[in-house]
Amino acid sequence: MKIYITALFALFIISTEAQEKLYEEQYRPQYHFSPATNWCNDPNGLVYVNGVYHLFYQHNPFGNVWGHMSWGHAVSSDLIHWQHLPLAIPEEDGVMIFSGTCIFDKNNTSRLGKNGKGPMIAIYTGNIENNQSQHLAYSNDNGLNWTKYARNPLLDINEKDFRDPKVFWHQPTNQWVMAVMLSAQHKMQLYHSKNLIHWDLLSEFDPAGDTSSVWECPDLFQVPVEGSATKKKWVLTMSMAPYMQYFVGEFDGKNFKNENPATTIYRPDYGADYYAAISYNQLPATVSPVMIGWINNWDYANDIPTTPWKSAMSLPRTISIKKVDDEWILVQKPVKQTAQLRMPGMDKQNITVTDKTPLNIKSTQFEMLVSFTPNANGNSGVRLATGGGNYAEIGYDGLNKKMYLDRSKCANQNFNKKFEASSFYETKLSPVNNTIKLHIFFDNSIIEVFGNDGEAVMTAQIFPDKSDNGIELFSNGGETIFDKINIWQMKSAWK
Ligand code: FRU
Repeated sequence: MKIYITALFALFIISTEAQEKLYEEQYRPQYHFSPATNWCNDPNGLVYVNGVYHLFYQHNPFGNVWGHMSWGHAVSSDLIHWQHLPLAIPEEDGVMIFSGTCIFDKNNTSRLGKNGKGPMIAIYTGNIENNQSQHLAYSNDNGLNWTKYARNPLLDINEKDFRDPKVFWHQPTNQWVMAVMLSAQHKMQLYHSKNLIHWDLLSEFDPAGDTSSVWECPDLFQVPVEGSATKKKWVLTMSMAPYMQYFVGEFDGKNFKNENPATTIYRPDYGADYYAAISYNQLPATVSPVMIGWINNWDYANDIPTTPWKSAMSLPRTISIKKVDDEWILVQKPVKQTAQLRMPGMDKQNITVTDKTPLNIKSTQFEMLVSFTPNANGNSGVRLATGGGNYAEIGYDGLNKKMYLDRSKCANQNFNKKFEASSFYETKLSPVNNTIKLHIFFDNSIIEVFGNDGEAVMTAQIFPDKSDNGIELFSNGGETIFDKINIWQMKSAWK
């Protein structure tokens, strides 16, 4: 498949040598996606077409801070190795290209296809001063060249905050559905269409859960229920800076009904740096949904100390749900393809730790699986990026039954006061058979932690010194038995 992608987009691949140089910067993640140069934020238009995963993203082609928003573009055959393509949809005539969606209009419902083939369609928010409206662009060459629809906007209701359309095909009612935010009102609207051009209002989802900041980037998709071969539920995800939340329930082609307790806030990620995540459109029916989120935080996004690029995407995550204590909980796992980057590291069993035990390995680019019987009266877990008194701590608080991520002892925090202030994140997590499992990915400046097989997830950036490359186990207030430790050094997906 890689050969197919290479052939399809051969002319546009930047030379391996040039790319390798760009990917040598100290904090550059090696197995997460990041743009070759310049700023990126939200993933946009995730779609799978003819064996190719497309990743579009909010991009400033001219600089390393937010601005001139346009859609960058990359493709992959496995969601791990990406090839950069030319800018897909540029800012033009004072209209910035904000977040949105992509679909393959296979049956040419839009009539914008060519030679009997359907087009790829992008529906995004056109942002001008004091107005946001929904626009369309189409491509008849696998997403390389895009034409803006002559009669844009498709949908304009004279709103200043009306953005981030997500469009999908709803088979049972035979229609396209668009989820879009009335951001300042904390409302999601659903529209429907037969041809992707004319849109009519279907329903509204009223303010619920977290309304502490404007609602952005909705996604509504069906998710398999763990342990059942056939059962599915609908999940609604959305972002309200700096966090995300989700609801679980049913969608009948008109209304979405939340079935989780209305006042409880559920987050796909309880860390500092996971935002604007959306799922892939049009994956094969046998494949579970896959989501990708932006690894950054609007409180300090423009200031992170990386150059000549800014911001990365999360590992693609496979999504399912399960019921725990009468609540629907999102379950997330890194896609299986991630394991192809594993190299030998370390396997250990039954290590009893009081205070701390450094492991005999140095790495800032690894995957780690650790399971332990938590210390009931204190905190235990893993420290990474250790060196000279610095470290990031990923732990379990046995007394309060919480998983946490603490980056307060990491180096290089003073580039932004808000970054420095937001250093500790926690969420509830119960041991299973008296055991806590942490699945940790560390990629130079990115930490992603999946607790208990993906029931609770946390993502955070850190900016360690070069010598902060140790890993240790720790246990405070008593001993902890770590029954299994696996570490894999990870190959670069960019070299
Ligand atoms: C979310 C967001 C979207 C908007 C885009 C602009 O991070 O604010 O609502 O479309 O970023 O870059």
